[in-house]
Formats: sequence, C-alpha cells, structure tokens
Amino acid sequence: MKNSIPKSLYLFYLLISTFLLFNYSVVQASSSGQAAIATAHPIATRAGEQILKQGGNAFDAAVAISATLAVVEPFGSGLGGGGFWLLQDAKTKKTIMIDGRETAPLSANETMYQDRQGNVIKGLSINGALAAGIPGEPAALVHIAKKYGRLPLSKSLVPAIQVARKGFRVTSLYRRMVNFRLKALRQSPAAAKVFLYRNKVPYPGYLVQQPDLAKTLEAIAVHGHAGFYQGDVAKALVKGVQAANGIWSLKDLASYQVKERQPIVGQYKNYRIISAAPPSSGGIALVTMLNILEHYDLEKMQPAQRIHLLVEAMRRAYRDRAEFLGDPDFISIPVNELVSKSYAKKLVKTMTVKTATPSSDLKAAAPVPQGRHTTHFSVVDKEGNKVSATLSVNYPFGSAFMPPGTGVLLNDEMDDFSSKPGTPNVYGLVGNKNNAIAPGKRMLSSMSPTIVENINNSDYAVIGTPGGSRIITMVLHGILGFTEGKSVAAIVNKPRYHHQYLPDIIQIEKGSMPYKVRKALELMQHTLKELRGRYGNMQLIINQNNKMMAASDPRGEGLALVIK
Ligand code: DON
Repeated sequence: MKNSIPKSLYLFYLLISTFLLFNYSVVQASSSGQAAIATAHPIATRAGEQILKQGGNAFDAAVAISATLAVVEPFGSGLGGGGFWLLQDAKTKKTIMIDGRETAPLSANETMYQDRQGNVIKGLSINGALAAGIPGEPAALVHIAKKYGRLPLSKSLVPAIQVARKGFRVTSLYRRMVNFRLKALRQSPAAAKVFLYRNKVPYPGYLVQQPDLAKTLEAIAVHGHAGFYQGDVAKALVKGVQAANGIWSLKDLASYQVKERQPIVGQYKNYRIISAAPPSSGGIALVTMLNILEHYDLEKMQPAQRIHLLVEAMRRAYRDRAEFLGDPDFISIPVNELVSKSYAKKLVKTMTVKTATPSSDLKAAAPVPQGRHTTHFSVVDKEGNKVSATLSVNYPFGSAFMPPGTGVLLNDEMDDFSSKPGTPNVYGLVGNKNNAIAPGKRMLSSMSPTIVENINNSDYAVIGTPGGSRIITMVLHGILGFTEGKSVAAIVNKPRYHHQYLPDIIQIEKGSMPYKVRKALELMQHTLKELRGRYGNMQLIINQNNKMMAASDPRGEGLALVIK
C-alpha cells in the first residue's frame, strides 16, 4: 500500500472544513427537564424545535430533522440515502439502533465496478445511477414515527414539506459543495435544474426550491412506507435509474426493509459507551480503541506520548475494520471478542510506548482463533428521550443523479463496499471479502452515532459527526474530551488527528499541531501529513451536573439550541 491519501479525499475534506468560527453555535442552560437540539443547519434545528413544541417527543423531532436536512442539506443526506438512528427511551433506558442503511440492488455483483482485466473503473461507484444503493432513509423515518413517535407523519413531515416548497437560501458551504460536484451534477438534468442556477454554482442567497421533493415527502406523509417504495414514486425512481444505466428494479424497492439492531455497548472507566452496530464499524472500533486506551493514564501524559498511543489504538481498530467487518446479515463477525477487554489486552501487548508499529507488521494479525457528505444531529427531549443520528448520501450530493420527477437525489453509497479486495475506496479505506458487494447486502459504514453515560450519575453526551473514515476517530476524541470533563465548546473545537491503518500516516488538521509535538512523533517513527484544511461537523449535546449544553461544530453552519 502506498503511503498516500487520494487527492480527491484531500479536496473533499478541504470542502467540509475551512471558515473557522463561521456561525459558531454553543448554548448552555442549567436545570434538568430541558430539551436540546444540535444539527448541521439552523432550519433543521428549528424544525425539531417546532415539533417538540407541538407535543412531539425526541423521536418525532428526529423524523422532522432528518426530513428537513434532506431538503436543506442535500449534499449531506436525503430520502435517496440512508443512516443510523440511535434511539434511547427515557423510561426504560433501552437504546435501539434503527438501521436504515442502503442495500445493494438485487442484480448487483462483486465485480460490477471492475473492468475485464479486474481493475476498478474510476468513478463508477461514485457518479451516476449505477453508484446508488437502495435508499433506507424513507423506511427508517416511517418506522421511527410509527413505532416510537407520538405524532403522525402528516405533522412531523410538515416543516420539511414547507421548506421544500418555499425554498432555502444558498450558503457558502452549499456553494463549495456544488462546486466540488459541479461536473457530476451537470450530468443529471433533473439535479442540475434544482441545485444549480443556469447550470452553474448558484450565487449566495439564491433560493433553492424543490417542488418534486415536496410531493415525494407528501406521498410518504400520506401513504407511509408504500408512498416511497411502491406506487408512482417507486415507478419514477426505477424508470429514471434504468434510463441512466442503473440496475434498480421495482422489486429492489418493494423488498427494502429497515432493521432494528442492538447497539454496541462498551465501558470506558466509569462511562458506558453506546454506539452503532454493524453494518457500521463505528461502535466496535470505538470500543476496541477505548479498551486499549484504558490501559494508560492519558491525562497525565505529554501531548506527543498521548497522540502516539491514540494513533496506535486507531491503527489496530482500523486494521480489524478492514479485516472483519461487513453486513452482519451476510457474514459472521466476532463482535464479542472484538469488544472484549481480553482482546484489548492482547493488542496492548503488541504496542510499545515509544515507537510506532508499521501497519504492514499488523497485516496478517488475527484477533481471535475462531469465527467471529453525511450529517449528524443530536436531540434530547424534556423527558430525557435521546436520539443520536448520522445520515448520509455518501459523497457530497451522493451520486449527483436525480431520477426525473422525484426530487430525490440518489446516494453513491455503493462506494462504501470494497469494489476489490485491498483497493482503497474514496476515503482510502480498504476491505476484503467481508465487505464485498452482494445482492441485498448493506455496505460497511463508519457512521458512529453515540451516547455516552456516566455510570455513577446522570451525566451523558449525545455525539456524532460526518467525515467519512475519520468519523470514528473524531467521536473517539469527543468521548475522551467528555470523560475528561472538557466543555462542549472545547470538545467541538478540538483540533483533530486521525490514523486509519492504511495509509500508514497520521493525518492532522491544518495548523493544529505544534512543531515540537510533530518532531517528537517523528522521532517515534510516525509519518505525519498535514491536511489542507479542517474536517468534520460535530453536533453535540452534553448534560453535566444537571446542566444541559449543546454545541454545533464551528467548522460547519449548524445551530445548537437548549429549549426551556
Ligand atoms: O457510511 C459511511 O461511512 C460514509 N458513507 C460516510 C460519508 C461521510 O461521512 C461523508 N462526510 N463528510
């Protein structure tokens, strides 16, 4: 494996970075019994607030926020995409994960993105109709509303329908995202009509109106699941995809099912970590890393020493990600082993305090003898129901393809499969057979919606972020910050660094690491790469000493609210 990060990845992270302290949003208020919302867009935060005020619970608010983000942040998530919603019931304290991840179409196959020589064809799993998996978000919203909400979809989808029709104003982030995906968006006339202005990047303040999307949302509000997966919307989706060389069928849509999964639960010191289960790799990787880090007194360490140990934990968890993880309905994953304290102990023995382990040395290691642009929001209602949700269409504006008449921009989540064993995807992640394409299979994800609870008192954090392969390590930094008593502002502001096993490089946010620390890490045999910008868009709610606090990442344009 080359020690390089794909150029596209750099550009992508540069896009979701920059504009420090733009619209920076942190709020806090004391006393319990308050609600809080943090999302990546002010209109979505307000939609959640509106639904809470109408008597909805956090789950209704989550439906309204997800649907509104689908409208106002089309480059991040949408009805044509999927996601994971972690729902915690205040009364029972039970947490469940709603898996609305996309699935591979039934006529997909393992080598569909390879040419005759077996080389991966660049762009095929990223741009256009062939890159799209079968969407899960509509099914998830219907499921959440029906089973956990108090309000009908005819109420919770109202804010999204209204803003789709009335329109939202173009921001600088929107413009950067469009600019990045301009070529692909121009290939899809329906998408270009909605998201561009005269086939160009719209000017700041331009009004994006989406009447077709409003109609599709209304079909869901009226007919529920069938409003999207059957009938006119389904027919238009399939017709559009097939006309653009895609492989969807009506059967693909009719057979899509949302799954309820038990989240991954671990313990770090006196904190319970509740996070995403497979087909996300997030929860397992987080618990593995935290189990390793529990062996060290991180808070007393010099910065370089601490970074070294975090990086070594990241390296090992991402190695396992590449090796063992995929859709649990298709492969067997040694979950219990991977999240066990004894496994972490074995991993710690492979680490040294002073020197980096080259990733190539870890390659053949097996942990067990036997079998085994995206958005985040956090919501807590007054009763204490919680939602931590990360949603995605994958790359900015997904596949950039919109089937005419639907208003639905399709994902390019198929790129999260391993198109060929060992060949990195757009985030530089590698995988093997376990994450190979198969009909109806869910692609491995890094999305890591997480809830952290103090076992000894009522403190908690609801945390998550977009950011491709870097999601898991951002959430790790966030969890450590929370357990070390840092403020919401400090946690979302914190300069970030990342290691993902391959490439064997510590990726660091621009200008975020002092020269001395970098030199010390290099002396420990680490290779460092400073990125061209900053990355992530964390949406965080914390309750500490009965004080409710919420923050939206200064790298984005979001809004955090605490509601009395
Ligand atoms: O599921 C995943 O891991 C990716 N599709 C997430 C993509 C993402 O976070 C893009 N973000 N900025």
